Amino acid sequence: MTSVASFFFGLVVALSCLSLQLALASDPGHLQDFCVADATSSGFYIYNFSNGVACKNPSTVTANDFYFRGLHVAGNTSNAQGSRVTPVFAAQLPGLNTLGISMVRIDYAAGGQNPPHTHPRATEILLVLQGSLEVGFVTSNPNNRHFTKTLYKGDVFVFPSNTIHYQRNTNWKAPAVAIAALSSQNPGATTIANAVFGSQPGISADILAKSFSLDVATVNFMQSKF
Ligand SMILES: *[C@@H]1O[C@H](CO)[C@@H](O)[C@H](O)[C@H]1NC(C)=O
Ligand SMILES: *[C@@H]1O[C@H](CO)[C@@H](O)[C@H](O)[C@H]1NC(C)=O
Repeated sequence: MTSVASFFFGLVVALSCLSLQLALASDPGHLQDFCVADATSSGFYIYNFSNGVACKNPSTVTANDFYFRGLHVAGNTSNAQGSRVTPVFAAQLPGLNTLGISMVRIDYAAGGQNPPHTHPRATEILLVLQGSLEVGFVTSNPNNRHFTKTLYKGDVFVFPSNTIHYQRNTNWKAPAVAIAALSSQNPGATTIANAVFGSQPGISADILAKSFSLDVATVNFMQSKF
């Protein structure tokens, strides 16, 4: 190949790799039927910073590795937001390891909310089991469009991955319950208020003041709340 041809060949290969990466927006596909997380492995991701968890020896895997009991139990919503997320991620259900999917139960006290947050690794699809919820998500820059809707028992709503989203129980007298599925074994969550005003160490108050059109004293006050 001439150097010009090899340059373009290299460019095409590089762009192909890039588009392949863009296609992999959720957990990668699995290469065997299952890879039950081996909690005793030195590769356990929570402690060892690797991507996913080593597989348990398949000959020692049992039905209980694919099983979790507990989502019939209401989460404790006695907290400032009035909500509780009960996760069933790979850490709770080892059989989810490498499968790119997980589930949560969300309980809402009367008037409670699950405050604006994002999932860095997952799209979320939510089903209302009980009560009614005001939900919404906001798209990325520059439009920052807000899609919002009130959901009732049996309604399903999807929050596209990485968008800031929230839910609030619209009933001030009774609790609400939802189940959600997420397209990652370990979706993660970034709560906006905590990340912005409660980071450790804190972001300089003058930076936040300029960002939010507030005075520094107000930012100091908000940071003190976290
Ligand atoms: C990985 O994590 C396990 C569990 O905490 C720990 O015992 C082990 O020492 C860690 N391995 C490395 C290489 O850090
Ligand atoms: C719920 O959480 C609150 C606040 O942490 C605690 O005081 C209370 O004992 C908990 N209730 C139950 C039933 O665990």
